[in-house]
Amino acid sequence: MDTAGCVIMSGRVSHCIRCLITAGPTREHLDPVRFLSNGSSGKMGYALAADAVARGWQVDLVSGPVALPPPPGATVHAVVSADEMLRTCSPLFDMCDLFVAVAAVADYRARTIAAGKLKKSGGPMQLELVPTVDILKTLAARKRPEQVVVGFAAETRDLEDYARRKLTEKKLDWIVANDVSRPGVGMNADDNAVVLLGRKGERKAYGPAPKPAVAAFILDQVLQG
Ligand code: PMT
Repeated sequence: MDTAGCVIMSGRVSHCIRCLITAGPTREHLDPVRFLSNGSSGKMGYALAADAVARGWQVDLVSGPVALPPPPGATVHAVVSADEMLRTCSPLFDMCDLFVAVAAVADYRARTIAAGKLKKSGGPMQLELVPTVDILKTLAARKRPEQVVVGFAAETRDLEDYARRKLTEKKLDWIVANDVSRPGVGMNADDNAVVLLGRKGERKAYGPAPKPAVAAFILDQVLQG
């Protein structure tokens, strides 16, 4: 990719960047009214989508349930669960040049979803949970050499060690490590502080700064990479 956001193939400009971004939380339903989820607001992913649109890129934003207005110019695909997010991303991934996985996908779901509202029994209740599909790992495993794949790592300790592990295990080009235990930054905050780690050993820190500025930093670095 060049800095104007176009894909260069065989020395000539081929087409402008098509970008796929996931954002927000997923919800894994237990019954029609209850679900497992997390506090992701979608702000980081939506800021990346807005910045990508401002660069003239074609943007597909696959979003879990959030309370944000759609970024003008992006095509928003609203989803609920991890399974649905993967089904929606899968064909879009094959058409994209850049995939940025910002969504806080729930790691577990109920083995079975009750058809009706679960009733209180008065005593303790046991839920059987099974892992959700790893969307980023599944898609990155079939990445073409010219595609760029960026993951996020939400950590509460050993930030860079865990993030590097995810970078390698999920076969990513870049990972954005952010500490989600620090007050005022990270999940459900307006600001973020990130360390961008690359598969060739690159390390670039940025922030704390408002999420739109963090988004611009990430896309600038990835383009230069
Ligand atoms: O939405 P905000 O309130 O703005 O908060 C932003 C954020 C904190 C959610 C964001 O910056 C962030 O860190 N996103 C990643 C959250 C996360 O799930 O991290 P993880 O370390 O568990 O996952 C690693 C990567 O794998 C992520 O790119 C995630 O999207 C992806 N993943 C994880 C699990 C799964 N089943 N499928 C996935 O694709």
